[in-house]
Amino acid sequence: MEVAVNNEGMNEERFKRRTDVDRSVFQTAVSDAMAKVRSNLDVFQDKFLTSSTVGNVYSLNVYGDTPTANPDKIPGANVGWTTGFWTGILNLAYELTGEQEYLYVVERQVNSFEDRIERKIDVNTHDIGFLYSLSCVAAYKLTGNETAKAAAIRAADHLMTRYVQAAGIIQAWGNMDDPNERGRMIIDCLMNLPLLYWASEVTGDGGYKDAAYQHALNAYKYIVREDGTTFHTYFFDVFTGEPLKGKTVQGYSDDSCWARGQAWGIYGFALSYVYTKDVRFLEMSKILANYFLNRSPEDLVVYWDLEFTDGSDEPKDSSSSAIAVCGLLELVKHLSDEEEKQYFFNAAMQITKSMYEHYSSRHEETSNALLLHGVYFKMYNHGVDEANLWGDYFYLEALTRITKDWNLYW
Ligand code: GLY
Repeated sequence: MEVAVNNEGMNEERFKRRTDVDRSVFQTAVSDAMAKVRSNLDVFQDKFLTSSTVGNVYSLNVYGDTPTANPDKIPGANVGWTTGFWTGILNLAYELTGEQEYLYVVERQVNSFEDRIERKIDVNTHDIGFLYSLSCVAAYKLTGNETAKAAAIRAADHLMTRYVQAAGIIQAWGNMDDPNERGRMIIDCLMNLPLLYWASEVTGDGGYKDAAYQHALNAYKYIVREDGTTFHTYFFDVFTGEPLKGKTVQGYSDDSCWARGQAWGIYGFALSYVYTKDVRFLEMSKILANYFLNRSPEDLVVYWDLEFTDGSDEPKDSSSSAIAVCGLLELVKHLSDEEEKQYFFNAAMQITKSMYEHYSSRHEETSNALLLHGVYFKMYNHGVDEANLWGDYFYLEALTRITKDWNLYW
């Protein structure tokens, strides 16, 4: 199966020139970030933070994805789709500093994730991969924590309950029989698939991988448009498997290209390549990357929807750029063409430098975030021009990738 997608190609002149970024800037960026993470550890410990900031400040997490997620409104509860990013940040902090204290807190959080999947607290979603890859899979990979491994396998089993056999997709949101959500896949889900690939590796049961591979192929075929842009979400008939239509939820319009969705696709297709070695996914990651990079504004950090460029009054979404950088750095590991490798590497380095210089919280003493100026949900005016936990996580993952050898948590 090949799809006809027009690859715009590597058109951004700035990334063709050899980048002589002084690497010490990234060490300084790590030190600045670690100072923030260290003080958050002292304050929050094993409690969880809000998904995005208010006035650039996180507080204790209260609300999950459903009204019943945390009925007692317990502050710092492990609910919602973003808590794994805090655990992921602590795992990275351990790798960057070698300080054991981060691991002690991760261990307590792993117990919370075990309890969450056992009692099925706010897990009626496909975002199980975001939650469990960065917390439990990472903890297992770093320390061999068996509780973490068992919880992550259980989480993968739960994710499999969302697999729609006839369509070959994992349904994103809601109850499986919800008429508004039935048969909807979303591009973000490419980042949930590594949990399934990993589960096949550690259990020897190929069923998880088969489902993930099928979902990735359907994303390859239907969620990418002919011009290399992406739909945010796509509906399938759950009885016949027939592909129906693309639709946005968080983007500007059904026809536009939501920046974060495109970034999830760059990284997500690269990760499906890692686990399947299907070169179509590598090609697709490149195509999406070229479209994304060809819309780079002056300071290289994209607007929240790629419909917008410099001169618009729309906000930037720094988290999209942080995700894309991690995807590019993964992509270059698997490319053989030197020109392509250098181009995507240059882009990753220049964007990261710009994120540090213009978007990091280094001059914001009152902020407990790492990367400012993100957008969570523009239409609902939620987390607009604020930091968010995934932006912080991917910014730190990018810095970790650049400053040391790093093995995937995904
Ligand atoms: N996965 C949800 C988001 O990117 O906002």
